[in-house]
Amino acid sequence: MTGEGRGSERPRRARRAFACVVAAAGLVAHACSAPAAAQLRVTGEGPRQRLVREQFPQEYRARYDIFAVRCTRCHAMARPIAALTTGITPVSGGRFETDGIQRYVVRMMRKPNSGVDRADAREILLFLRYARGIARGEISAQGRSQTPAPRRSRRTEAR
Ligand code: HEC
Repeated sequence: MTGEGRGSERPRRARRAFACVVAAAGLVAHACSAPAAAQLRVTGEGPRQRLVREQFPQEYRARYDIFAVRCTRCHAMARPIAALTTGITPVSGGRFETDGIQRYVVRMMRKPNSGVDRADAREILLFLRYARGIARGEISAQGRSQTPAPRRSRRTEAR
């Protein structure tokens, strides 16, 4: 059914052209789907940004709650959100990946009257690494709507 080996010049060229079309379609599909996969969901804009709690699995929601209280005492949640979405901290431009996350959590904990104790810091660290994993597209978030979202607010600038 393939006609291999006999008069194959034309079919081969046709197959190659078809392969290009398929590859191009694949690239387009990839380009369209990649950002959605690597999305940490944020509501609100500017300093009012919050991470959407429901995107985290059950065992990370309590950790989110600790983060949401402890890490918004001195600055808006927008600051850690900016670090989470980009992997770069918004004030000093440091790396906010696995090790960097730990350094910044310890640094925040050590600030005078931080209100962050070691037990909190540990939970927050787990939470931030998980959230960064979602932002990098390495972990898929929960609670995604199955139908295309009608509106999606994704402003990530920190103020
Ligand atoms: C005691 C006040 C305080 C608390 C609590 C606090 N921060 Fe900060 N945060 C600061 C200050 C002040 C800065 C400005 C840069 C600096 O001094 O490190 C900052 C900066 C940051 C930055 C940007 C760092 C940079 O260099 O770009 C991130 C990210 C951050 N905080 C995350 C957190 C997280 C996560 C928590 C919760 C564990 C937290 N903060 C709790 C005071 C605080």
